[in-house]
Amino acid sequence: MKIGVFDSGKGGTTVLAEIKKALPGAEYRYIGDSANCPYGDKTDEELMRIVCGHVETLREWGAEIIVIACNTATTRCIKRLREMYPEIKFVGTEPAVKLAAESGATRILVMATAGTVAAERTKKLAQDNQRVGQEIVLLACPGLADAIEKDKNVDEILDMVLDGSESGDRDARYGTPDVVVLGCTHYSLIRNKIQKRFPNAKIIDGNEGVKNRVLGIIKEYNIK
Ligand code: DGL
Repeated sequence: MKIGVFDSGKGGTTVLAEIKKALPGAEYRYIGDSANCPYGDKTDEELMRIVCGHVETLREWGAEIIVIACNTATTRCIKRLREMYPEIKFVGTEPAVKLAAESGATRILVMATAGTVAAERTKKLAQDNQRVGQEIVLLACPGLADAIEKDKNVDEILDMVLDGSESGDRDARYGTPDVVVLGCTHYSLIRNKIQKRFPNAKIIDGNEGVKNRVLGIIKEYNIK
């Protein structure tokens, strides 16, 4: 079985690792497109052009399943990709808002790229899952994925996106969340740093959900 995985760099390796644990015998091909990182500030058209290139490469290699290990590319492109390539089984990565909402948390903070936060699909995800008395804040974190990719100024950028420039800003924007959703696969690589900023919050990502979806597709289509 051939599974292709792509992201704008090393963020998607966290998704790949989760899938590999469950399916060690499958064949994998990973595209870490650091040349085009960050995806978070690209227009839909730029992003479509880039991701179609990856889909073509993985299709030629023989991928039966393509995992978009990137929240930005998923929220902005997956609908069109499914229309363009109906023969391919796509699995996307989306912020784990549903999981967070189901946990019964009162305050949920979703950290993601500007592109993911602006996507209609993400807004709908938050609206559809929000329960009575629950607050879901979508926080765009410009520059953070790129800093993680290049391993440069990560702490400074994290401070900037979380604390903002004005004092009191943080409280007005998102207060003290019970759950923090890592809505960008790069952020899973700095989970410990984010946990330190929110010592009492539960930190979650969508990686387990992606793995479960891959397993579900394999079963449904009897892929060997
Ligand atoms: N790792 C990606 C995501 O999950 C993309 C980050 C970026 O390139 O901006 O959104």
